[in-house]
Amino acid sequence: MAERLLEVNDLATYFFTADGVVKAVDGVTYHIDEGESVAIVGESGCGKSVSALSIMRLIASPPGRIVHGEVIFEGTDILKLSEAEMRDVRGNDISMVFQEPMTSLNPVLTIGYQLTEALKLHMDLNHKQALERAGNLLEQVGIPDAHRRLKDYPHQFSGGMRQRVMIALAVSCNPRMIIADEPTTALDVTIQAQVLEVMRNMAKEYGTALVMITHNLGVVARYAERVIVMYAGKIIESGSSEDVYNDPRHPYTLGLLRSVPRLDEAIPEKLEAIEGLPPLVIDLPDACAFAPRCKFAIDKCNEKMPELEEISPGHMARCYVASELHELAKK
Ligand SMILES: Nc1ncnc2c1ncn2[C@@H]1O[C@H](COP(=O)(O)OP(=O)(O)OP(=O)(O)O)[C@@H](O)[C@H]1O
Ligand SMILES: [Mg+2]
Repeated sequence: MAERLLEVNDLATYFFTADGVVKAVDGVTYHIDEGESVAIVGESGCGKSVSALSIMRLIASPPGRIVHGEVIFEGTDILKLSEAEMRDVRGNDISMVFQEPMTSLNPVLTIGYQLTEALKLHMDLNHKQALERAGNLLEQVGIPDAHRRLKDYPHQFSGGMRQRVMIALAVSCNPRMIIADEPTTALDVTIQAQVLEVMRNMAKEYGTALVMITHNLGVVARYAERVIVMYAGKIIESGSSEDVYNDPRHPYTLGLLRSVPRLDEAIPEKLEAIEGLPPLVIDLPDACAFAPRCKFAIDKCNEKMPELEEISPGHMARCYVASELHELAKK
């Protein structure tokens, strides 16, 4: 069995704003095993980026603060590390591909410079070795004429290529885990699939665990072994990709699946958007946050937030009608 790499226990990150306390991440528990690929999915604003940034300890404070929880990485609670120790973790153990690729690539430095600096810093290589490895990495992520293109600047690459460069940068220091925050949103679906494929293959080759954050459940289907679905700062369903795709047990997951075309389905079914918007995560009542948008809501849903319960081994859902959802959805 694979070893546990990361354990997030009851993590909560709030923003203390003039309008009130924004409970962006509110009691999230999950784990990532060594070498595993996991997708974290949900609509805009549900807390995906904030939960990733919390793990990296990159939450701007004020207004943000991790109010409770543990982030155990290889046996150590990294929330308790000093800032210097944490910089080490960010450089060597966990890499993050940020949501905006242009904010992470420096426009005035060549791609080769940016890659070799990272390699020299983390891998103890001399300039010639770093240059060689940088070229090889670009080649591996599928950039044609890779070694020559090291001399080029970020703007000389297309959007999809820049994403690939970002992936090369993320794997350059051989981390234990990569967190990729919406690495492909700006790209068309075919390129998204290619980029995810490259990332998954690189992760497999190097034995790196991969956390893919996305709002598109359709695209990650083929690339993640497990899926975690978030809504309004909480996990509402999680399980193997197979369970979540073939047997969704939360109406929100069902809605997400019906609202996106699936890359792994030859004939897409009719697409349906989920009506309404996610709530603002300020002063939410003790009730299911999805109830106002849910076709299957019963009285209880408005009275108390359901617990995350195990449906079958490894498959969890936070819903009172989880066991009947299939029957209800057929009607
Ligand atoms: N600095 C901040 N100050 C106040 N609220 C914030 C701050 N950063 C994030 N939030 C709020 O936290 C919640 C979660 O945001 P987050 O960025 O994690 O969403 P997301 O799931 O990544 O969405 P997207 O798909 O749009 O990237 C949102 O309601 C957001 O407005
Ligand atoms: Mg985000």
